Amino acid sequence: MTDVNSDLVVELVELGLERREARWLVEEFVPGGDREAVVALRRAATRRLDGEPLQYIIGHWPFRSLDLDVDERVLIPRPETEELVGVALSELARLDVSAPLILDLGCGSGAIGLSLLDELRSRGIAASLVAVDESRDALAVARRNALKHHLHSVSFVHSSWFEDLDVALVGRFDLIVSNPPYVGEGELKELDPVLGYEPQGALVAPDASGVAGFEDLATIIAHAPRWLKPAGVLVSEHGDRQRQAVLDASVAAGFDAHDLDDIAGHPRILVARR
Ligand SMILES: C[S@@+](CC[C@H](N)C(=O)[O-])C[C@H]1O[C@@H](n2cnc3c(N)ncnc32)[C@H](O)[C@@H]1O
Repeated sequence: MTDVNSDLVVELVELGLERREARWLVEEFVPGGDREAVVALRRAATRRLDGEPLQYIIGHWPFRSLDLDVDERVLIPRPETEELVGVALSELARLDVSAPLILDLGCGSGAIGLSLLDELRSRGIAASLVAVDESRDALAVARRNALKHHLHSVSFVHSSWFEDLDVALVGRFDLIVSNPPYVGEGELKELDPVLGYEPQGALVAPDASGVAGFEDLATIIAHAPRWLKPAGVLVSEHGDRQRQAVLDASVAAGFDAHDLDDIAGHPRILVARR
């Protein structure tokens, strides 16, 4: 870091930013110590001090092997979702299929499906992906991320869950992955204020079966078996109060299911095998 940039970090820390975030912003906006970029840096610091998430200000963020473009049209990909990708890769390794077909329901920025494609590619496995979202804005971001990382074996489908998927795909998927909205409306105010900057349609789901925020998960679990191959697997993220509900719904749908904690020890990842 140049002397100019070190001075800028000090300036932002004095304004109230954490040192780590101040460094990120300086490296992003003034990479070569260019004084003309300082105006943009100060504008970015003000946005951050007003509470806007750093990821939206910077406009991209690392997720496993990828650097994903992110903006206010998509959820900021979370570390626990990186764990979900690891679980999905283990399930694919267990299935041992040579050219898996994957469905990502509620793809957002493309975080789950695109990182699966990228990591499988680096293992010499040519997978194909169908990426679904009901938000056309999110699909536009995911499409840009696919191009950015030269991931071309992807079809983007505008659909509410399975509704507008081509029926020719019934029974064809090896793996369905999802991180659907699972926060109940009543729960939102208990959570991090950063959520207020994210698309509410990516976060909040109606209650179902007496469980807050469970409706989208219930829909996905109930319909997934029809779209999976006989040995296919559904791997889905869920809320930390939804473990029993996802397991009950999976058994009712005919799955052999178990559920995993995330690294923080919270119930988080459903693995439902047909
Ligand atoms: C929690 S975000 C997950 C985004 C991304 N998969 C990730 O993990 O970062 C949920 C996504 O589901 C999408 N979504 C919400 N309701 C949907 C529906 N009925 N059908 C398809 N997608 C939906 C939202 O637009 C959003 O992109």
